[in-house]
Formats: sequence, structure tokens, C-alpha cells
Amino acid sequence: MAEEKRTDCLCFFVNGKKVVEEHVDPETMLVSFLREKLRLTGTKSSCGGGGCGACTVMVSRCNPASQTITHFSANACLLPVCQLAGAAITTVEGIGSSKTRLHPVQERLAKAHGSQCGFCSPGMVMSMYTLLRNHPQPSMEEIREALGGNLCRCTGYRPIIDSCRTFSQESKCCQGNRGVGCCLNEEESTEPEPSAPQLFNKEDFLPLDPTQELIFPPELMRMVLTEPQQTQRFQGERMSWVSPVSLEELVLLKTHHPWAPLVLGNTTIGPEMKFKGVVHPMIISPSRQVEFIVIVDVSAGVWVGAGLSLTQVRSVLEARVEALSQEKTELYRALLDQLRTLAGQQIRNVASLGGNIVSAHPNSNLNPVLAAGGCRLSVVSDGGRREVLLNQDFFTGFGKTVLKAGDIVVSVFIPETQAGEFVRAFRQAPRKENALATVATGMRVVFGEGSTVVQDLQLYYGGVGPCTLLASKTCQALVGRLWGEEMLEEAYSVLLKEVVLSPGAVGGKVGFRRSLTLSLLFKFYLEVQQALAHTNAIQHGVPEAEWSALRPLPDCILPGQQQFQEVLESQSEQDPVGHPIMHRSALAQATGEALYCDDMPPTEGELFLVLVTSTRPHASILNVDVGAALLVPGVVDVVTCRDIPGKKVRSVLGYEEELLADKEVSCVGQMVCGVLADSRTQAKLGAAAVQIHYQDLPHPVFTVEDAMERESFFLPWREIERGDISDAFQNSDYVHEGEFRMSGQEHFYLETQSMLVVPVGEEAEFHVYLASQAPTMAQEAVAETLGVPANRVTCHVKRLGGAFGGKVTKTSILAAITSVAAWKTGRAVRCVLERGEDMLITGARHPVLGKYKVGFMKDGRITAADLQYYANAGNTVDESPLVVEKMLLHMDNAYNIPNLRGRAVACRTNLPSNTAFRGFGVPQTAAIVENMITDVAMHLARPAHQIREVNMYNGPSLTHYKFSFNPENLWRCWEECKARSGLDVRQDAVRKFNQENRWRKRGAALIPIKYGIAFCEAFLNQAAALVHIYKDGSVLVSHGGTEMGQGIHTKMQQVVSRELHISSSKIYISETSTSSVPNTCPSAASFGTDANGMAVKAILIFWAVAGDVTEKISPRPLAPRDRRFDGEEDGALEKHRRLPHALQPILFCSQCLR
Ligand SMILES: Cc1cc2nc3c(=O)[nH]c(=O)nc-3n(C[C@H](O)[C@H](O)[C@H](O)COP(=O)(O)OP(=O)(O)OC[C@H]3O[C@@H](n4cnc5c(N)ncnc54)[C@H](O)[C@@H]3O)c2cc1C
Ligand code: FES
Ligand code: FES
Repeated sequence: MAEEKRTDCLCFFVNGKKVVEEHVDPETMLVSFLREKLRLTGTKSSCGGGGCGACTVMVSRCNPASQTITHFSANACLLPVCQLAGAAITTVEGIGSSKTRLHPVQERLAKAHGSQCGFCSPGMVMSMYTLLRNHPQPSMEEIREALGGNLCRCTGYRPIIDSCRTFSQESKCCQGNRGVGCCLNEEESTEPEPSAPQLFNKEDFLPLDPTQELIFPPELMRMVLTEPQQTQRFQGERMSWVSPVSLEELVLLKTHHPWAPLVLGNTTIGPEMKFKGVVHPMIISPSRQVEFIVIVDVSAGVWVGAGLSLTQVRSVLEARVEALSQEKTELYRALLDQLRTLAGQQIRNVASLGGNIVSAHPNSNLNPVLAAGGCRLSVVSDGGRREVLLNQDFFTGFGKTVLKAGDIVVSVFIPETQAGEFVRAFRQAPRKENALATVATGMRVVFGEGSTVVQDLQLYYGGVGPCTLLASKTCQALVGRLWGEEMLEEAYSVLLKEVVLSPGAVGGKVGFRRSLTLSLLFKFYLEVQQALAHTNAIQHGVPEAEWSALRPLPDCILPGQQQFQEVLESQSEQDPVGHPIMHRSALAQATGEALYCDDMPPTEGELFLVLVTSTRPHASILNVDVGAALLVPGVVDVVTCRDIPGKKVRSVLGYEEELLADKEVSCVGQMVCGVLADSRTQAKLGAAAVQIHYQDLPHPVFTVEDAMERESFFLPWREIERGDISDAFQNSDYVHEGEFRMSGQEHFYLETQSMLVVPVGEEAEFHVYLASQAPTMAQEAVAETLGVPANRVTCHVKRLGGAFGGKVTKTSILAAITSVAAWKTGRAVRCVLERGEDMLITGARHPVLGKYKVGFMKDGRITAADLQYYANAGNTVDESPLVVEKMLLHMDNAYNIPNLRGRAVACRTNLPSNTAFRGFGVPQTAAIVENMITDVAMHLARPAHQIREVNMYNGPSLTHYKFSFNPENLWRCWEECKARSGLDVRQDAVRKFNQENRWRKRGAALIPIKYGIAFCEAFLNQAAALVHIYKDGSVLVSHGGTEMGQGIHTKMQQVVSRELHISSSKIYISETSTSSVPNTCPSAASFGTDANGMAVKAILIFWAVAGDVTEKISPRPLAPRDRRFDGEEDGALEKHRRLPHALQPILFCSQCLR
């Protein structure tokens, strides 16, 4: 017993420095250890579940047997620190910094414009860095794979790839796309013309010098090689961690603790613990078992250690494919196909083969193909060793297998195939990699020599039920049949009856999944048909018109480029406006030095707030019981709506939104109360202990159709009309009615909603640090909620890790709730939403149903259109009426429709409230209108772009909302796009391809858009700025815009540099603060740079003009406007002393220039 409570010292290295932890908690993941304990905040946490790569680090280990060192990338959010004994971790801070030396990966990512908001950048850097440690001159395929587990929401990846490409010796091509055909042969080259201006200059880059990299710590190497191996134990509050060294000890442990999971990659157990709150009192880590990583070649196949990572399994299989004849490697190649797309590289580097099998996930990539291939498991338990067949009986339910709790899978036998045996695996997923399959299959057929009669058939499916499923009836029906179309028809009808998904099946997409079961079987049929033809078992393979069904989609990096206009030659070289200069924080972002809200160090006595949200869509709250929560160690208090000292609601457009629900909830995810504790872990535990009792209310409304039926709207309807619709319809050659539905979209900014509220301690003053697009709105919300004047609340925004419209209204509400907690406790309070909370609470893009009636003439002219929009607004009004208003204003898109009517309404439903999102309703309306245009084109059997051309605005025009404009640029753009894309040639090629290929179709479209920037309310289209000029010649600029990756601070720097004739290095922008620039408008509506740029410019022009005036009245000369005002110049300080004091600082508003 005493042995069981023993806790060892954990030792590993981070960035070359030894870390020794005497009391490590096994529940701690590396990401929080790095960020909270070591204060290495360069490693970011975004999804917390292995899905985004923001937390990527490099793990290095020394293998004592071979004395070799391996480096691999891993997600720190899923790496238990206890797993790291003997490992060396490298984080973004360890490879380079702006203070010492930048690493070339950091430098190139920044200079190639691969960092915008920068939240993904450290993860990108570490994925690429790890690749370079293993392959200093990587291929493009290796680069693609290395970055496959990293998400970026800002850049669109092209500039990131461009920066990585500079390390590759390969050109931009796909390298033959694994034999499928090179992209460059199919499409015309899009390599920029040599004379075209370049976004960055490769010659400026630091060279990659592998000798400069951190070495594996010699002390760690000595420890690994010389210190005797012994069982490690780590004891936490709720969980213990044991890592035995021998198999006997492992079996003993598992016998005594049969329910303790064996954790290798932690990619199933970790997310379960984190997202489902599963607690395992003990975890056994078999990562040091030699038997688990052994590879044994035998005559009929290979035994692969169950503890090998999926990356290692891939190498084993690749080696066998290389060494063996093709007929023997059918199963290996099918497995390799699945391994390539399974999760991202960081997951594959740690997830184990045994873990994947035993996790028995119904969507597993591997299980269907391992089962179809007839693999076996070597299992050990206290009863001894036995073999278990991986077949239909192995999987018994969701996450369940026939294995008993004490069973340990030691290795997996993967057999070679024989002549006449064909194995294939297919998967359809929302995207190619790093996404769980919607349906995955493993299929194997065996024929007698030279025969096409089916001897044996195994069709395994994943994603069509709670576990991997064998379509046994279908298989039985086909054995003995000739491989051909008749057999296939029979297979379909049996399969449809056998694989049944109820309409409410978990995972949804029932129709799609059912059709996939058939289409993937068809694919298998074609593949085998073709293979039989190759072996001459049949005369004719798949006809050429059907080959496209066999070809995989290209997985190469498609070439892309950005073209831009160069500045005029006459522009001064010192003037940076118009040049593609690097984002001013890009280097800080790529080195992990850039600070985001949650990177701020904790303040003394700081508390963490976790919100408790409704689990009911529509219900009365009977009681909120916080008793159990208050008993959780570390929990300090709970805040409810009763604690709000000021206004308990936010009033928007005549509607009120409760900050914290009082008597009723109207959606799942509505905030009810918040638990405060001294750490985020304890606050989370406290929040889980809050009991809310509800009484469900009838008839919740979820869809737009429900809302229409129940007339559940945020009124009034918005309407706009021009011309005479009825008359125009009557006089049209044709009238057509249709509808188009667009669903929502998550913002998925990589940095979740984050804020820190610090009470100053006197006169009800608060500092609010937050990631908001609208600091003034947050200031107002906090002040109103606390019942204090706005002058007591200062909001500070350093930068945002992405926003896309999602950090305006909800951020203000979250800041207000956090401020109540700070007010109540008198302590600083931090609130950082986890990804799941963020997605639940904050709402998304509005799903929209658009209905239209369109009247048009034989020549394609649209004479009348009548549109109706129903947007699913969710449970509160938020900005929804403004979003639907914008839909109406943009419903002409780029077309002059003389008779046009639109009606739009925001539907009130019991879903989390939707909010502003990139485009603010315009993408929805554009999609609906363009669908209408396509309908017209189809009706007239004409290419859609011709209908677009016929209807586009032409000559001086007036929109339906009476805005006069000249569409000259629209046409220029249109014609240039047509010419440069070679649209006609492409469309001919598309037509030819579609005629020749039965199963795969292509398309090419050119769609115009007229997009109006700025807010509809004119008073919002203004900005202010404050410029300080210091005596040393440096300049501090404050303005109302927030930096969220769009580069607004960089652009302000350019403006100041031009206006003051000083180098950008003299100009600094620290943050956006409501105390520097008050009453600002949100950085939104694509207007931040225009408005704030003009405000900054206005100040400087005013300063220069006033300077000239003062010069006239001053007995001493002043610094003339056209002279460089630069600290590097002699006498700069002296000049500055002579500035008129009245002009420093200067606050100016962009409206003054209008
Ligand atoms: C972001 C993400 C994306 C993913 N995408 C995919 C995907 O596209 N396709 C796919 O197939 N999978 C996917 N997965 C799942 C992943 O492949 C599995 O979680 C992984 O293979 C499990 O291995 P592990 O070593 O991490 O298991 P762990 O989490 O360490 O353990 C999982 C379970 O297996 C048991 N176990 C482990 N080893 C043994 C053994 N030797 N004997 C007995 N029991 C054992 C443990 O007791 C535990 O219950 C994804 C996971 C994540 C986090
Ligand atoms: S992968 Fe770790 S935070 Fe997303
Ligand atoms: S720069 Fe990649 S997420 Fe913002």
C-alpha cells in the first residue's frame, strides 16, 4: 500500500534545461505545464484535443538499445507530463528569439507573410522545425504532411506553404502526385512571371544550418543510457500514474487494476477525460515495455508491437511494400492508404496501433481493414498468452471489444496476401486528413487461381453503427458468384437491407452514409475489376470513361500565387505605403513572444471563472444549487444574476438579453452562473458540481421552418422595393421560383474568448484586458453592469488571435460577467473559454433560407426578382436584424435588376444566438442570388457567366437603395479575371472532361461581387487616434482599431511613416485602449483601416499645418514638414523640443477629413 502511494520525481528537459518535478499531478498536460509552470507561453492552447496543432512541440527521445535519437512533433495538449520522463522537449522559445537569433523557420514564416493573427504560428513553426530536424531538405509531400495537423483560420495556408517551400529543393509542383499525374501537366503553370513583383526576397533569408540546433542534452543521454530502469509512480489528488518496466509487472498491475487504462498516445483517454469528465483513479503507462515495440518478421506476415506509434507502423509497412512483390502487399498498401489520412502527423506520432484497435472507435480508419485482412492479436493476461482474431466478433459495441478488462494486446499480426487476393480501404471524411471518417471501409476478396469466382469476401464498414461492422449477409450472398455487374446488383440490394441506419442514428447524415456504403462498394468493385484485368483473369478492365472513379483526388499542394500592384517608381523608397511589408508583429508571433490575453502572467490572488450553462433548450429554472460546488477545494464563490450590481441585461435594438439567466433559459449553452476558484482546474470541477433543476417548457423552436410556422421572429421585418414587381413578372418571358438554404459556420478563431478583469482597488476602477474587436462596447457593458461611469473602466486590447466578427457582442457580455466576479470578490478574475464552451456559448454564422421568384426574358435579362430571407438568429437578438438588413442591401449582388423586392426577418429560435460573421450576411445573400442566376442559366440552357454578364451593372448606376456608383471597376475586374484565368479554354476542357468521364465531374465558374464596406449607420464610420512624439524621436501611436491579424497596426505604421517621413522602426503601437482613444467603433465592416488610417493621417496633417502656422508666429524655426523627423538624424531631439506643446499629444477624428 505504501508502495502504491509512493511518488517519484519526474525529470525531463525543456529547451535544453533540466526540469525536476517532485510532486507532479498525472492529470497535468504538457501545454499547461509549459504555460503556467514554466511561463513558456509561446506554445498555445486552442482546441485542447489534438485537433488544431497550435500546441505543437518537438519531443526527442534516446533509444537506449540502438542509442539513436528520434525527434517527433506532438500536441502538448494531449501529452501527459508523466509520459515525458527521459524526454527532451523543444518549444518555439527554444529554437530562436528576436533577442538572440531567429530560427530560419521563424524568420521565413514571418517574412513570407505566413503569420496574420499569429495564434497558429508557433505551432506551424514547430511542425516545420521538427520536419527539418529529420529532413533538412524536405520534399513538398513531406511539408504537406508535416503541416496536415495544423490549422490556420487567417492565412489560407498559401503564404505558410510559400515560406516552407523555401527549404525544399523541389519546385512548386506536386511531384507526380504519387503516380496519378503531375498537376503541372494538367493545368497551365501559374508560376509568377519572373518580372512580377515578389512578396518577399529569398536572398534575405538566414540559411538553415543544422549544426546550430539544440543538441539532445548530454546529461539526459547519460541518464537514459546508464541509470537502471525502475518502476515509476506519480501520485496526484485524484489519479495515480504507474509506468512498469517489465511485462510481468505490467500483467500484475493490470490484474490488480483491471479498469486502469493503458495509456500510450493518450489520444483516446486524454479527450475522454478532458471533454467527458471521465476520471481514471489509476493510469498504467506501458511505454517502456520493449515487447510492445518489437517487430517480428515471419514467413506469412509480420508481428507488429502494439505500442508502436502509427508513424512507426507506417514505416514498417512501407519497408515491406518496398521489399515484397505486389501481390503480397495488398493489405499493407490498403493500411498505408488509411494511415496517410488518419488524423494529423502529431497524433500519428504518438497514437499507438494497440490504442487504435482497443479504442474500437466506430469511425476508426484501421479497424475495418485490419479485420478484413484477417489480422490477429497476441494478448497477454494473468491467464497467460493467447491469440485473438480481429473479426466481426471482436467489436461488441461503441468503444467495446471482446477483450477482458485485464487483457493486454502485445502485438498485432498483419498477414501478407496471396495471388488472387485483393484488399482495398476507402474512407470519406469531411476533409481529407485530420478529420474522422464519415464512413470507412476495409474490403477483401479472394479468387481461385485464374478465376473470377468469389471464394471469400470480407466487407467491413465503420461509421454505420456503434462499432465496426461486417456486412456478412452480403458477403455470403456473393461467395461463389462471378465478379461482374450482375453480382454487383445483387450486392447492392442485400447491402441496403443489411446496413440499416435509423433516421435518428447517432452522427446524422443518414442518407449520405447509406449512399456511401453503396458507392464505396462500387469503388471496390471497379478497383478489383481493374486488378483482375491486370492479372489477365478477365479480358476487359474498367472502361476508360469510368477511370475517374478509380483515380484518387490529387493530394498535392495546389499552386497558388498572390499578385499585387507595385508602387509607382516616383514613390520615395522611404515611403512604405503600398509595399508588401511584413506584419509588424510577425516575428514576435513566429517566435512565440507575441502576447495574447491568456499569456499575461497571473496577478496576485487571481481567480479563474468557469461558466455554467443551460442543458435545456427552453425551460424554467426551478433552482440553482451551488452547495456542492462551494465544497470543491479551491472554489471561492459563485456568481449569479443576483450578484449583478448594475444593469442585468444588455439592450440591443429594442430587445433585452440577460447576462446570466434568472428564471428561464431559452437555449442550450445559455449562461446561468459562474464558478470562481483559485485555478482553472478547480473552477471547472466546481462548475461541474453545480446542480440546476429545470422544468421544460413546451414547443422549443429550432429551425427556420419551426419559426415561420410559429411566427417566432425578432420584428420588424426588413423590406426594400424598387420598380413594379407584379407588372414586371407579368411581362417576363419566364417566371421561375426556387429556394436555397445555407447552414451556419463556426468562427473557430484560434484564440478562444479570453479576458482578465483587474480591480484597481479604489473608486470602483477596473482594468479589463481582453480579446475584443470592440473595446468601447466592452467598456460600456462593464460599466453598465457594475453601475459605474465609463470613466472607471479601461479596456485594453493588445491583439486578438482571430475574431471574424465573433468577438464583438458576446465578448462584451463575457467581460461584463467577469467584471461582476471581480467586483464581488475584489480580486482579479480571468475567464478563458475552452473550445467546446466557446463553440457552445458564442453562436455562429446565421443559417439562412432564401426563397426567390425571378422573372426573365429569352435573352437572359432578369426583369424582376422577389426574394425572402429567413435567418436563424437563435435565442437573442444580437446583431441579427442588422445582418438581415445587410442581406437586403446586397441582394442585387452585382446585377442591375430593375424591379426588385426583398423581405427579410431574423427568426427567434431556441439555439445559441448567432452573431456577426465575416461578410455579415453578404455570403448568404450572394449564394442565394447566384443560385437564382444559375437557375435562370439552366432554364435557358446557357452558361451562367453569360447570364451574369447580361445582368451586371453597366455605366453610371443606381442601386436599389439609391446609391449611385460607376461599375467601371467591376467590369475591369471581370474582364481581367476572364482573360487571365483563360475561362473559355478552361470551360471547354471541363466540358470535354465531363463528356469523357462518367463518375467524376468538373466545373469552372466566374462570379462577380459588389461589396459595400463600412457600417450602415454613418455615425459608426469614424475613428480617432492619438499620437505621442517623444523627445528621443520615437513615436507612439494609439488608434481605435484592434489588431486581429488584418495588420491594422502595420498599416497605421505605414501611414505615420509616410506622413512624418520617418522610418517605421521609430513608430510603435502598443495596444488599443479606451483610455487613450475613447468612444471608438468596432473594428468591423471592413472599415477599420480606412477610418483609423484617416484619423492618424488627420492628426499628422493638422500637426504639420499647425506647425507651419506656429512657425510664422514663432521667433525660432520649427521642424519643417518635408524634412525627416528622425531620431537618427543629428539634432532630432533639439527639433522636437521646439514642437508646439499644444500639439502633443493630439487626438483627432477621421470625420474631420470628410
Ligand atoms: C484529433 C484526433 C483525430 C483523430 N482522427 C482519427 C482518424 O481520422 N482515424 C482514426 O482511426 N482515429 C483517429 N483518432 C483516434 C486515434 O487514432 C486513437 O485515439 C489512437 O489511435 C489511440 O491510440 P493511443 O495510443 O493514443 O490510445 P490511448 O488513448 O493511450 O488508449 C486508448 C485505449 O486503448 C487501450 N489500450 C491501449 N493500448 C492497449 C494495449 N496494448 N492493450 C490493451 N489495451 C490497450 C487503453 O486501455 C485505452 O482504453 C483521432 C484522435 C484525435 C485526438
Ligand atoms: S491540438 Fe493542442 S490545442 Fe489544438
Ligand atoms: S494566422 Fe493562423 S490562425 Fe491566425
